[in-house]
Formats: sequence, C-alpha cells, structure tokens
Amino acid sequence: MTSILFLCLGNICRSPMAEGIFRHLADSSAHGHRFEVDSAGNGGWHEGEPPNPRAISVARRHGIDISAGRARAVRAADLDRFDLILCMDRGNIARLEAAFPGRVGKSKAEVALYLDHATGMPGEVPDPYHGDISDYERVFWMLLHANQALLEKLTASS
Ligand code: 4NP
Repeated sequence: MTSILFLCLGNICRSPMAEGIFRHLADSSAHGHRFEVDSAGNGGWHEGEPPNPRAISVARRHGIDISAGRARAVRAADLDRFDLILCMDRGNIARLEAAFPGRVGKSKAEVALYLDHATGMPGEVPDPYHGDISDYERVFWMLLHANQALLEKLTASS
C-alpha cells in the first residue's frame, strides 16, 4: 500500500482535482487497492468546504466526481502517516517547512514537488483560483498527464 497526500494552498482547487484524478486512474487500472490518497491545503481558510465549483465542474466534464471532498489543513501527523506528500508548487513546500520546523525530510513522508516527482520535469502547477474556467481546464490536463506518469512510475516494478 502506498499512501499519497496531494498538497496545495487552499485544498479547494488543485489538490482535490489531483486526488480525484489519481483515484480515478488507479481504480481504472488493476492497482486501485494499492493506493490510499487524500488531499490537504497549507491553510484552513476553506476547512470543511467542498472543492471550488469550477474544479467540480471541470472534473465532472471529464467523468470524475470530486464533489464529496471537504477541505482541510495539513497536520503534523500527516508527515508520519503518508508515504508521499506531493506539493503543487514550491510555496507549498516552504509553507509546510515553516508550519512544522525541522519535520520535513525527517519524518516518514517523502515531501516532493509534484510535477518533478511524477514526470521528472521540474515545474509547478499554477494556482487557478483567481483565473477563469480555462485555467481550471489547463490544470486538469496537467494533473491528468502527470498522474498517468505517477501511476506508471509507482506500479512499474510489479
Ligand atoms: P488551491 O487554490 O491551492 O489550488 O486550492 C486556492 C484556493 C484558495 C485560496 C488560495 C488558493 N485562498 O487563498 O483562499
């Protein structure tokens, strides 16, 4: 079992989309039972809220229902619970380090930049929150392709 936490800033746009897409891809393969996935944000500004309506709508258009997700802030315990914490941008890593000083890199979880870890190409997933629906659509495709690569990488040795 590999456990993955997708991390973004508010946990209402990028990370719930990443979680839903990865779950969908894993369940559509023979490997769904091998993964536990969750998502969180650096901040709890939207604690308990469903994903942004534009994120829900873009995912739904592609056959993925993320409406049941509820936002939460990342907790110290997540660093010991998950195998991988995949961060959408470098700011997410910096905020994680600031929130839990000395814990990142010293706990169970490997903390990595998501696109870098998934595809080998360093880069950040842009925050679509202040953009329009086309920004959400672009983020969806980035996440879909990166998650396909991530699933392949994590299941390659079996
Ligand atoms: P996310 O987008 O990090 O992709 O969920 C954001 C959502 C909310 C806020 C910032 C980014 N916010 O400041 O409330």
